[in-house]
Amino acid sequence: MISFPNKLCLAQTPTPLQSLNRLSDAIGGPRIWVKRDDLTGCTVSGNKVRKLEFVLAQAIEKGADTIITCGGVQSNHCRATAILGAQLGLKVHLILRGEEPEGQSSGNLFLDQLAGATISHYPVADYKKLPELFQQWELHYSALGDTPFSIPTGASNGTGAWGYIACAKELADDFQEHQISPSLISCATGSGGTQAGLTLGAELFNLSAPVLGIAVCDDEAYFQQKVREDMQAWKDEYQQQLDITQLNIHVNAEHIGPGYAKATPEVFDTIKSLAKMEGLILDPVYSGKAFHGLVQEIKAGHYSNAQDIVFIHTGGLFGLLAQRDQL
Ligand SMILES: Cc1ncc(COP(=O)(O)O)c(C=O)c1O
Repeated sequence: MISFPNKLCLAQTPTPLQSLNRLSDAIGGPRIWVKRDDLTGCTVSGNKVRKLEFVLAQAIEKGADTIITCGGVQSNHCRATAILGAQLGLKVHLILRGEEPEGQSSGNLFLDQLAGATISHYPVADYKKLPELFQQWELHYSALGDTPFSIPTGASNGTGAWGYIACAKELADDFQEHQISPSLISCATGSGGTQAGLTLGAELFNLSAPVLGIAVCDDEAYFQQKVREDMQAWKDEYQQQLDITQLNIHVNAEHIGPGYAKATPEVFDTIKSLAKMEGLILDPVYSGKAFHGLVQEIKAGHYSNAQDIVFIHTGGLFGLLAQRDQL
């Protein structure tokens, strides 16, 4: 029996597991199933709300009234935190990487502003001093008499890992319901926490399928280390007995393309064709880039013996809207 820590009920779960039959037939490979974590909410949709259920519960238990977190200008995690903060009556301060865009804000940034988050933009060179920026804002709010609580990039830490351990538990039920035993569980990997939670959860709930993180930035060595760090933090903080040294971390960093938040025309083509063929909307920064990568791997014959493959749709719709000029 796995004993989960306290969480807030903020996500619409369980999410459905749906098969993409038309796409699977068109590619001619294994049946592709999508875990619809883009449906965890409307404006708080995507993977971050699963992690934030646990991380924000911890913040409130510690008496926090102000949340400080960080990410790119179009961070889905920051948008989810900004909106959840407003729902919970917490102040939210976002440390964003990159200058404030000229003209009207769009996508996630627009929603951050609408939800009333305080936003500090930093040029990339300054953002590199992230620990100092967190410290500076923590001191600022403490001096005001507030109780700040800092959440790292993507809420990827030992506590956030619980979010995707919980998702793995759902997947165990999904597999039973659909009578499948998938050969692979894949997801976009950006800050590593989703993959860390899924890797732990797959072991804890006997999913007997490897978890593959398809990197959208950074190289394989980086994610091997980051995912293991998050798993280790989970083990240490929650005194878990699981021997994580025997867990393999699978990373594919072959589909990053031009870089973080930059997608090739082929990724946009995949987004367009999937929207038409299956009514499934992906984004160019995370889910679309990773899904496109997965389809390339299937087409290359890497899963020719597999019957079923699962892709976790981690959301990102508002990031797509911010890049609509590319479509
Ligand atoms: C839509 C979306 N999908 C996937 C990811 C990757 O998840 P993680 O940061 O846990 O690796 C992120 C965030 O980084 C995201 O916003």
